[in-house]
Amino acid sequence: MRPAAIGLVLLTALPARAAHEFDERDLAKGRSLYVEQCATCHGANLEGQPNWRTRDENGVLPAPPHDETGHTWHHDNTLLFEYTKLGGAEALAARGVTGFKSGMPAFSGEISDDEIRDILAYIQSTWPERIQEIQRGRNPPH
Ligand code: HEC
Repeated sequence: MRPAAIGLVLLTALPARAAHEFDERDLAKGRSLYVEQCATCHGANLEGQPNWRTRDENGVLPAPPHDETGHTWHHDNTLLFEYTKLGGAEALAARGVTGFKSGMPAFSGEISDDEIRDILAYIQSTWPERIQEIQRGRNPPH
């Protein structure tokens, strides 16, 4: 990403949810929660659903991969957390994007905030170091 674009991402980030909330998480727990809660859509190996860039007849996207071939790592931790907790439609509405037909359900009633962080930290731990570093750079410094 160009430096200017990185600056823009930092400026538009919502009030800092510090990156360190994703450090030293329980990765084994995150992994088993991922298998229970996320793998049906995002794939047992984080590979996502086939043709994940193409909307279905209802205008809903298939689940994207969470591995390095997807765009999960393009986002800061706050967005990843809110997308999981609030669901896609509400997380985007909070950013001014309304009317988005999201296939991503809200998990706020299913699992705790800490469990969401464990899952996301597990996902991040599977990325190559280079990708982890780029994604870390999208978060406010701490
Ligand atoms: C019912 C299917 C389904 C389940 C279960 C599901 N997701 Fe999703 N998820 C989606 C879809 C579809 C999208 C694509 C964007 C959209 O439609 O909002 C998505 C998008 C996302 C994104 C945004 C990724 C990006 O690159 O923009 C994150 C983060 C995410 N999901 C995390 C999770 C986590 C963590 C779990 C388990 C706790 C989970 N999802 C479970 C369907 C699902």
